[in-house]
Amino acid sequence: MIDHIPVLFEESIKFICEGLNEGIVLDCTCGAGGHAKGFLENTGEGILLKCIDRDKDALEIAKENLTVFNNRVEFLNMKFSEIGCLFDKYKSNNIKRVFYDLGISSMQIDKFQRGFTYKKNQKLDMRMGKSKITANEIINKTNEDELSDIFYKYGQEKFSRRIAANIVDKRQYSKIETTEQLVKIIRGSVPVKMQLKTLSRIFQALRIAVNNELYEFEISLNVALERLESGAKVGVITYHSLERNIIRKSTAGKDNIKVKKVNASKKEIKDNRRGRSGKLYRIEIL
Ligand SMILES: C[S@@+](CC[C@H](N)C(=O)[O-])C[C@H]1O[C@@H](n2cnc3c(N)ncnc32)[C@H](O)[C@@H]1O
Repeated sequence: MIDHIPVLFEESIKFICEGLNEGIVLDCTCGAGGHAKGFLENTGEGILLKCIDRDKDALEIAKENLTVFNNRVEFLNMKFSEIGCLFDKYKSNNIKRVFYDLGISSMQIDKFQRGFTYKKNQKLDMRMGKSKITANEIINKTNEDELSDIFYKYGQEKFSRRIAANIVDKRQYSKIETTEQLVKIIRGSVPVKMQLKTLSRIFQALRIAVNNELYEFEISLNVALERLESGAKVGVITYHSLERNIIRKSTAGKDNIKVKKVNASKKEIKDNRRGRSGKLYRIEIL
């Protein structure tokens, strides 16, 4: 059962499914299969869906959720930076749509206990799957300057230097293994009224670093934009400005690419916590 509300659902389904009669759709961030289900329900037998996710556990749940569409779906446990091999395998003109709903899923936060949130005490891991390094290794082994850069670059956190210095100081005495230990250091580094925002930013920064998220997205989007043919579309749901900068950079100055940004509706912003920061980019290859 899909127990979360997919972000910008109606808007994504309309954009991806409109005018789509045959060919292949790549859902690069399948998760529990919420958007995927919508794509399958709103297209006919001529449409095949490749459900990609780097997280094996997420794909297992998606498989259960999408069993009725068995003959039209294939599940691929891979990173979306590797989609070039799918363009080679299926030929570019057969791939009609590419979709991304970036970041982590509520399922990864609530069920998988990988230390993605400062709200629960868990081991510091933060791997979505198929990453070499964990948050524990970054926190305990990275030097102070690099740690501070990670917090500043990926979290835009102005107290990054002070937080990095405090982490390096504390880890001399005992290894930082849990989210609770990290939260305590962060709280002790910034004024009380800024603590919650700083916690979100530091956890986001670490997650981006562990999973190499920006590199992954930039590589994948550029492959899609280069290989898709006229009439194809790319839908991207982004949650922060670092992701949006990649879209701007990758599409700038290209006459054959049209980009439109859609915000979540007022209702969705009210009802769905993740929907608040979500923005759908509708990219069309002319
Ligand atoms: C926001 S969730 C997607 C939720 C999904 N749209 C749904 O409705 O259930 C993002 C998913 O993308 C996956 N993901 C993130 N980065 C990835 C990457 N580089 N390659 C493959 N999967 C990735 C995550 O593991 C996560 O399951």
